[in-house]
Amino acid sequence: MSNTYTVAILGATGLVGTYLRELLEVREFPLKELRLLASERSAGERLAFKGEWLTVEAVSEASFKGVDIVLASAGGAISEQWVPIAVKHGAVVIDNTSHFRLKEDVPLVVAGVNDADLEHHKGIVANPNCSTAQLMPVLKALNDAIGLKRVIVSTYQSVSGAGKEAMQELLESSRYYVQQGEVDTDGLMYKEQLPENAKLCFERPMAFNVVPKIDTFSDEDYTKEELKLVYETRKMLHMPNLPISATAVRVPVLVGHSEAVTIDFVRPTSPSEVRQVLERTPNVVTAERSQNFATPRETAGTDPVYVGRIRRDLSNPEAGVCLWVVADNLRIGAALNAVRLAETLVQNSWLGVGV
Ligand SMILES: NC(=O)c1ccc[n+]([C@@H]2O[C@H](COP(=O)([O-])OP(=O)(O)OC[C@H]3O[C@@H](n4cnc5c(N)ncnc54)[C@H](OP(=O)(O)O)[C@@H]3O)[C@@H](O)[C@H]2O)c1
Repeated sequence: MSNTYTVAILGATGLVGTYLRELLEVREFPLKELRLLASERSAGERLAFKGEWLTVEAVSEASFKGVDIVLASAGGAISEQWVPIAVKHGAVVIDNTSHFRLKEDVPLVVAGVNDADLEHHKGIVANPNCSTAQLMPVLKALNDAIGLKRVIVSTYQSVSGAGKEAMQELLESSRYYVQQGEVDTDGLMYKEQLPENAKLCFERPMAFNVVPKIDTFSDEDYTKEELKLVYETRKMLHMPNLPISATAVRVPVLVGHSEAVTIDFVRPTSPSEVRQVLERTPNVVTAERSQNFATPRETAGTDPVYVGRIRRDLSNPEAGVCLWVVADNLRIGAALNAVRLAETLVQNSWLGVGV
């Protein structure tokens, strides 16, 4: 195998695709060629890369010929359609969508957490859901050092988790409320302010609101987003019976997901032991004091996972600790992890299928 690679970004004009392009450039991924793929809507658009302009192509079967790695972030249905075709042409696909994540023969990986799972891929590697991805380095380190007994997570997820149109919708609806100068409590004016035929990303107003429903409802009255956190965490930790429960909430934040996490451990522990473990964990920044914390506004645009408010769980003082975990959902939760996975595949010569 050559030491430079042809990479295609499927969904190159989207939020995640934009970060993928930026990260391939700044991390100096060994590229032979970069192909930018999207729908017919943005075919012909020109996007900057390393001081040049690259033209976006509408995805087709020919797009994947000669491609070594596909970074796919155009939505689950698009991955379902195109990923098998890319694999048929010999590419390894790192998929950011939920489509393949729980399939048995598809490794689900956070780089630096469960890299060994990558080795025996069959052409598809899945990137976890953004709220799961940022929690993984924390849970893995604490499980290895102390042992997890039960995990309860409440998420506070930014609108960028739903794509670029969702960010635009939050900005436009916020601007509307501010310009009105008074609070419209029934939300009726919300739709009227947006352009006619606007495709609304959220079924409830997001400006000045919080919405405890991300994705559709599924089993046992949980949303699919909540169940992704449960099942994907269990898969990556190789703990199929780990008791874990989640409430996923959308908040009017542009970029950065926050999580309030309560962990019961298998043995007595303390906030200081938890802090010491996390201080040794790569890609995690730990607050020096228990009253310190990060917020999404400060962490957007940065790479680490930030852990603060490390404190004793008053309902389980012997073996319970509470945390506040914040990260940039577009980076560790999507694009950064995908590029790190590509780097890991290359560094270990794991690009060939079934190696
Ligand atoms: N945002 C996050 O934090 C995050 C985190 C983890 C995973 N993900 C996943 O990543 C995917 C993309 O998310 P995003 O936030 O980047 O969304 P986005 O900003 O809405 O971008 C969607 C991208 O998909 C392309 N696309 C749409 N329909 C297509 C089609 N029929 N054929 C080819 N390309 C098509 C769009 O191209 P056009 O410009 O041509 O429409 C655009 O490039 C989703 O599956 C999402 O669940 C997102």
